[in-house]
Amino acid sequence: MMRAPYHPGNTDKSMPKITFIEQDGTQHEAVVSIGSTVMEGARDNDIAGILADCGGACACSTCHVYIDPAWVDRLPPKESMESDMLDFAFEPDPLRSRLTCQIRVTEALDGLVVFLPEQQI
Ligand code: FES
Repeated sequence: MMRAPYHPGNTDKSMPKITFIEQDGTQHEAVVSIGSTVMEGARDNDIAGILADCGGACACSTCHVYIDPAWVDRLPPKESMESDMLDFAFEPDPLRSRLTCQIRVTEALDGLVVFLPEQQI
C-alpha cells in the first residue's frame, strides 16, 4: 500500500492538506476541514479553476479534477450520479477524473494531490 506524502509541518490531522496543481505546474496547498468536500476546500482557499457552479449538487461538473495516480485507489469509489455527470466534464479520464464536490475529506486524505483540468466544460 502506498503512503501519503509526508508533510513535515502538518501535525494537525484534523486539517488535512490537499495540493491542487494547475496545468502549468503551479501548486496550491489548501488546508481543508474534515467533513467538508474537496470542492469546498478549494473554494475556501480561493483555488482558481474549481468553479463549482451548482454549489456541490453534482449537477454541473465544473469541480472536475484529475486525481494523482498514487491516490486513485485510495479514494471512495464514484457513485453512479458522479460517473454520469463526469460525462459532461472537459476531457474526462475514466480512471483519474473525479468531481471534487463528491469527495468528502477525511484524515486519510491528508496529502491528496489533484490536477486541475485545462478548463471546466
Ligand atoms: S460543484 Fe457542481 S458537480 Fe461538483
